[in-house]
Amino acid sequence: MTESSPQKTILMEREGRVAILTVNRPDKLNALNDQVREDMLAALAEIEHDDGIGVVVLTGAGEKSFIAGADISEFAGRTPFDQREAMRSPRIFDVMGSFPKPVIAMINGFCLGGGCELASSCDLRIASDKARFGQPEINLGLIPGGGGTQRLPRLIGLGQTMRLVLTGDMIGAAEAKDIGLVELVFPHDELRTKTLELAQKMAGRSPLTLRVAKEAVRTAWKLPIEEGIAYERDLFCLCFSTADKEEGVAAFLEKRPAVWKGR
Ligand code: COA
Repeated sequence: MTESSPQKTILMEREGRVAILTVNRPDKLNALNDQVREDMLAALAEIEHDDGIGVVVLTGAGEKSFIAGADISEFAGRTPFDQREAMRSPRIFDVMGSFPKPVIAMINGFCLGGGCELASSCDLRIASDKARFGQPEINLGLIPGGGGTQRLPRLIGLGQTMRLVLTGDMIGAAEAKDIGLVELVFPHDELRTKTLELAQKMAGRSPLTLRVAKEAVRTAWKLPIEEGIAYERDLFCLCFSTADKEEGVAAFLEKRPAVWKGR
């Protein structure tokens, strides 16, 4: 494993073809401030062009928190214009959602507000049994502003989103799994090992095919079913232009593991 810290508030580790991004403000429960957002975008831009990385895992530093939301201290005295500037594109939520490589949220504790929205933007959510989830903006006289009113209903439905957004209540990991907010829950001590096992498995697939597969599934959120099915057919046929399709099929027929070329 190699470790580097090219950005101040985001740590990046590599384990094989998996990059682990850690939001590193444990004393503030990894709240998202302007610096974190900027550093996260820079880290993602670096990873996007790194052919040695196939999958990204996002987590929070310390034992207590994934991300406890936007940094509330930055809201005090802010004007709408200041806030609009702080929310200018590109936004981490959108970049995460359309990132060309799979992104897994490894949720190790509080997953609140913008943290829950960021997790909702990822492709998969794997949580510690100690994790707590919520959209508590209502307690601040605010509403979710990172996609919580739009992505969350697509994940967990309108009613469950209403419950979280209108009450500001927190729920535990088991309930989050019940309502589809997370896909997997593990005992806290096993979270990293289990998440990395799954990430390494994905990262061992053809990077090109992973990209197309992710795009196809993501499209289900965007297009009516008939258009989505037609788009899937086109992407399926596009795979027939790749060396990796020939390799995958040949490997099956020759009863050997495939050696992906990424083209
Ligand atoms: N923004 C800024 N600072 C935050 C923060 C946030 N979203 N969440 C936690 N912190 C800070 C606390 O102010 C505290 O800092 P301090 O030690 O300098 O006082 C530190 O992180 C530890 O948090 P603390 O509240 O003492 O921990 P706790 O275990 O008692 O409570 C929470 C944990 C998550 C319940 C509580 O911190 C909380 O409600 N945070 C806000 C969550 C939120 O509303 N997020 C949505 C924002 S839009």
